Amino acid sequence: MTNVRINPSILAADFANFERELGRIGTADAAHVDVMDNHFVPNLTFGQPMVERLQQVSPVPLDLHLMIEDPDRWAPGFAEMGVFSVTFHLEAATAPVTLARQLRERGARAGIALRPGTPFAQIEELLEHFDQLLIMTVEPGFGGQRFMPETMPKLRLAREWARRHGSEIRLQVDGGVSADTIGMAAEAGADTFVAGSAVFRGEPAEEIARLRELASQHGCTH
Ligand code: DX5
Ligand code: ZN
Repeated sequence: MTNVRINPSILAADFANFERELGRIGTADAAHVDVMDNHFVPNLTFGQPMVERLQQVSPVPLDLHLMIEDPDRWAPGFAEMGVFSVTFHLEAATAPVTLARQLRERGARAGIALRPGTPFAQIEELLEHFDQLLIMTVEPGFGGQRFMPETMPKLRLAREWARRHGSEIRLQVDGGVSADTIGMAAEAGADTFVAGSAVFRGEPAEEIARLRELASQHGCTH
């Protein structure tokens, strides 16, 4: 699989030095930015002015993961900043298809995320309206948690759906992705990998290359 994307999560970066930290992941495909509102998840991170500034200084495109209530109201504003993609949670959205259209109209790829407990059946009918599906492999809210292998059947269903529909949709996993777990996710059908602690714990360029290699080895030819 040559199509692997590695998106480091800056949730694990040094919060006092974002410009420098983004500079350390120049070989990544995108920087994953976890926006949390302290309502949808019990943690608070970046707001719009912050993301806008990150977008200005980042050498790689931004992949936004909105863990917020009422994305219908807030997500379009994030899409207007020129970011690569905006992913919101199905569990929080009122009109996901309308919102996906609004994101695309503003030039961002539209992504939909599922918590570990949300079944694939809840998104299946709507999936054609999205450019990427984010399958959470931990409960959203914090970095450094353990990868949940029990989410792999859901990933397999999504990959099967994409095959059946000849869809180009990207399948992303997020949470606990490391050299130990990335093979399992690639084998189950993921093509885009978010990793926070695994990348920033060591030397980011080396970790990115290592994860890319492992994912390529284990991935099937989607
Ligand atoms: C968790 C976030 C993840 C997190 C991943 O809610 O969505 O993006 O940063 O961190 P690690 O890779 O440390 O599990
Ligand atoms: Zn995330």
